[in-house]
Amino acid sequence: MAPLTIIVFLLQLTSHVRVNSEPTQDKQALLAFLSQTPHSNRLQWNASASACDWVGVKCDASRSFVYSLRLPAVDLVGPIPPATIGRLSQLRILSLRSNGLTGEIPGDFSNLTLLRNLYLQKNRFSGEFPPSLTRLTRLTRLDLSSNNFTGQIPFSVNNLTHLTGLFLEHNSFSGKIPSITAKLVDFNVSFNRLNGSIPETLSTFPNSSFAGNIDLCGPPLKACNPFFPAPAPSPSSNSTPTKTHKSKKLSTGAIVAIVVGSVLVAALLLLLLLLCLRRRRRQPAKPPKPVAAARAVPVEAGTSSSKEDITGGSAEAERNKLVFFEGGIYSFDLEDLLRASAEVLGKGSVGTSYKAVLEEGTTVVVKRLKDVVVTKKEFELQMEVLGKIKHENVVPLRAFYFSKDEKLLVYDYMSAGSLSALLHGSRGSGRTPLDWDSRMKIAVGAARGLACLHVAGKVVHGNIKSSNILLRGPDHDAGVSDFGLNPLFGNGAPSNRVAGYRAPEVVETRKVSFKSDVYSFGVLLLELLTGKAPNQASLGEEGIDLPRWVQSVVREEWTAEVFDAELMRYHNIEEEMVQLLQIAMACVSVVPDQRPSMQDVVRMIEDINRGETDDGLRQSSDDPSKGSEGHTPPPESRTPRSLTP
Ligand SMILES: *[C@@H]1O[C@H](CO)[C@@H](O)[C@H](O)[C@H]1NC(C)=O
Ligand SMILES: *[C@@H]1O[C@H](CO)[C@@H](O)[C@H](O)[C@H]1NC(C)=O
Ligand SMILES: *[C@@H]1O[C@H](CO)[C@@H](O)[C@H](O)[C@H]1NC(C)=O
Ligand SMILES: *[C@@H]1O[C@H](CO)[C@@H](O)[C@H](O)[C@H]1NC(C)=O
Ligand SMILES: *[C@@H]1O[C@H](CO)[C@@H](O)[C@H](O)[C@H]1NC(C)=O
Ligand SMILES: *[C@@H]1O[C@H](CO)[C@@H](O)[C@H](O)[C@H]1NC(C)=O
Ligand SMILES: *[C@@H]1O[C@H](CO)[C@@H](O)[C@H](O)[C@H]1NC(C)=O
Repeated sequence: MAPLTIIVFLLQLTSHVRVNSEPTQDKQALLAFLSQTPHSNRLQWNASASACDWVGVKCDASRSFVYSLRLPAVDLVGPIPPATIGRLSQLRILSLRSNGLTGEIPGDFSNLTLLRNLYLQKNRFSGEFPPSLTRLTRLTRLDLSSNNFTGQIPFSVNNLTHLTGLFLEHNSFSGKIPSITAKLVDFNVSFNRLNGSIPETLSTFPNSSFAGNIDLCGPPLKACNPFFPAPAPSPSSNSTPTKTHKSKKLSTGAIVAIVVGSVLVAALLLLLLLLCLRRRRRQPAKPPKPVAAARAVPVEAGTSSSKEDITGGSAEAERNKLVFFEGGIYSFDLEDLLRASAEVLGKGSVGTSYKAVLEEGTTVVVKRLKDVVVTKKEFELQMEVLGKIKHENVVPLRAFYFSKDEKLLVYDYMSAGSLSALLHGSRGSGRTPLDWDSRMKIAVGAARGLACLHVAGKVVHGNIKSSNILLRGPDHDAGVSDFGLNPLFGNGAPSNRVAGYRAPEVVETRKVSFKSDVYSFGVLLLELLTGKAPNQASLGEEGIDLPRWVQSVVREEWTAEVFDAELMRYHNIEEEMVQLLQIAMACVSVVPDQRPSMQDVVRMIEDINRGETDDGLRQSSDDPSKGSEGHTPPPESRTPRSLTP
């Protein structure tokens, strides 16, 4: 995985800020810290410059205090001296991970009462769980993993009521795990010396959160035996270490791949840097563009170009923040994103998606849009609409970023990938085919998500296709993704969208609508039924689309030939397949007005589920009116779940 180099530009943008105010007291504390702590030569803080411009230091907007301090892997060695970092009383984020720091955490850390994120992992800190930290009641992420802490995990961690992530793995904590009531999302105490039963509040975490301890018992590990002390070591403590050990050894192939990958990344970086430098060097030579100047600083449109650069730059950096929507679960900032490791998930018609794993362990998807034509204001308005949409079958948009050069969207990460990958990925070669029940579940989930967009959100999706139907976890809970982005690209964008899903009228007018979404959804249903990708050339004749191909086969009375061969192994599903096929064909009517609305589609698919089988998906099988036309489904399944504002 390469660092998230895509947005490194943004850092350069923010570094335009040059104001002379200065957090004097915090600066002294920082200088005191660095002068007493050996460190690598890379870390050079210029005492005559503002502390806010030092490497790893970030101040608040008015530059009156230090907001975050990040010094990962800069070879800091020895104990943290007292009265240094503990004096940064306004600090929100502190990362000193991956250094050689030793000794105990100073008691004056208890004065960092506003601290939210504390990353001290991968050092050689020792002593008991630092008592000073249980005073920091605003902490949300605490990472003390891979250190040399000993003693018990104190019950007073319950003081940290806002904690969502607690990482204590690879230390020497011993004794019992206290019952922790905070709403933890991430928790790990693996590879310590803990014993006793796992508190019920923590039993929902996976067994790898507890692996490698002396003698832990209770869910998710083996049951506790109340009569005999369990034979040590537990299965978890001897199986997992060997596994991690093994995974550290890389095969020659992997090493080659990594080397090649790194070289490519380095080359790419160099190229970007060169391009960037060239652009910068060229800029001052050109006369200032009147339009740009007028927009950036309307009052000073006549001043020199260099001044305009500075004021424009700093104002821009100020305004360009990662904007989160209300009710979200994340607390990271742009810098966290920049530090994240990233992996390309896919390149689409609107941009490239990355899977970004943040330092704090959160995984999100960052979508980098290209060719956005709207103004910032218009962009923000559309984001406001999209950010409000909340439904279990809609992949939530969590945050966005807009600057002149970059437009980013942040979504939840859906671990099971896309429907497209499930349907078409590595066919034949011993893969598990997507079974019929899963396909039905995905169809109904996606339909509900899309209906929610239409009814509650009043948003046209505009780009329904199987690679935009994402699946959460092994249960195939479908989520509709990438919705409502068309307005950002003006009229040009749909033309380069994946053909095959586009309604006939969209091909002509390039205007998407609720009805064109229904058409695309119909194609998606055909894809689920036939197992054929709509843009696949293997539909026989050149240039024939999936709806026309299905129509021609059905007209010849070969209906059975239409269905995916992988579905032939399941019994008693023909009727359901035919019903779904009928719904799909209604959706792909050439005349928009003949297509059903998305609510109707949801209802029709749900009605299929009243069929005669008895598994969980088709729970309403005892309904006396099973499958009858025109029957009113239960109210909660009829309308999409209401929105939470
Ligand atoms: C430190 O900052 C001052 C003022 O910003 C500058 O004149 C000086 O060259 C800098 N020194 C180093 C070593 O960068
Ligand atoms: C915390 O700060 C206060 C004043 O800001 C100071 O008096 C006190 O000594 C500090 N506490 C510790 C443990 O250093
Ligand atoms: C818990 O937090 C409160 C302040 O919020 C503090 O007074 C108390 O000492 C803390 N308890 C422990 C054990 O740190
Ligand atoms: C951890 O602490 C123990 C004793 O407290 C010491 O023997 C050991 O060397 C320490 N380990 C590291 C990696 O510092
Ligand atoms: C846990 O280990 C400690 C000693 O390390 C021992 O005193 C205690 O009885 C053990 N507790 C359980 C429940 O096994
Ligand atoms: C806990 O940490 C161990 C060791 O780093 C890791 O192997 C395991 O996957 C982690 N478990 C969870 C649930 O994060
Ligand atoms: C952990 O759980 C997985 C599946 O949930 C299971 O396959 C594995 O054997 C468990 N490991 C231990 C050590 O209990």
